[in-house]
Amino acid sequence: PEALADLMPLVYGRLLKLARQRRRGEPAEASLNTSALVHEAYLRLAEGGEVTVRDRNQFLALASHVMRNLLVDHARARRAAKRAWQRFTGGAAGVQFVRTVEELRAAVQLLKSDGRLALVPTMGALHAGHMALVEEAKRRAERVAATIFVNPMQFGAGEDLDRYPRGESDDADMLREAGSDLLWLPSVGDIYPEGFATRIRVAGVSDRWEGEARPGHFDGVATVVAKLLIAVAPDVALFGEKDFQQLAVIR
Ligand code: PAF
Repeated sequence: PEALADLMPLVYGRLLKLARQRRRGEPAEASLNTSALVHEAYLRLAEGGEVTVRDRNQFLALASHVMRNLLVDHARARRAAKRAWQRFTGGAAGVQFVRTVEELRAAVQLLKSDGRLALVPTMGALHAGHMALVEEAKRRAERVAATIFVNPMQFGAGEDLDRYPRGESDDADMLREAGSDLLWLPSVGDIYPEGFATRIRVAGVSDRWEGEARPGHFDGVATVVAKLLIAVAPDVALFGEKDFQQLAVIR
């Protein structure tokens, strides 16, 4: 970690210079080939001594986090680099994982002290569309929380809840790289504790089209989204537009 801490300002300084040149429309002295930059920085790190796979993974995750931020907004980049620095020197962590509602509340309270908080609810199996939501969330808020919960209530009989793809560690890596601050992974028992008896139904818009083909599906979506919103109480929440009827129900 000490070697990594030494290296971070180097990566950051180099990227900052390239980004400045790019913003001013000057020909950049090198192309902004991010993977080459990270590779070069990593080689320098390796020259300095033994590097574990964990160090390397941490470094790659952080460097790409810094780079992504740099290309979007200067002030955010500086904050991201600061967080990276703090992380390597034993300060704040990257993406924080929480499972229980109690852990969530404590983490959310801290994040909210930094400014606005955005929420990106998901069912996992993340892809570029989800990452676009995280990017948009970062433009709208200082902090971003994501959730992964495969919601049994929105699956009908014979809809293969068990076969829904689950890949927690890949999802977590993607969220870390996209710059999400918090990941809430509740269990079914956290969301639907024993004795749970509440259901939300948005009449009208839930009834037609997909609602006819999948009775109860949108009630499951409305119920879980209400629960996630109540638990996190974000300033803004982001949903994809692909499931257009779902979006209408949530709105
Ligand atoms: O679109 C989804 O991924 C889910 O329906 C949502 C909104 C996260 C609720 O489970």
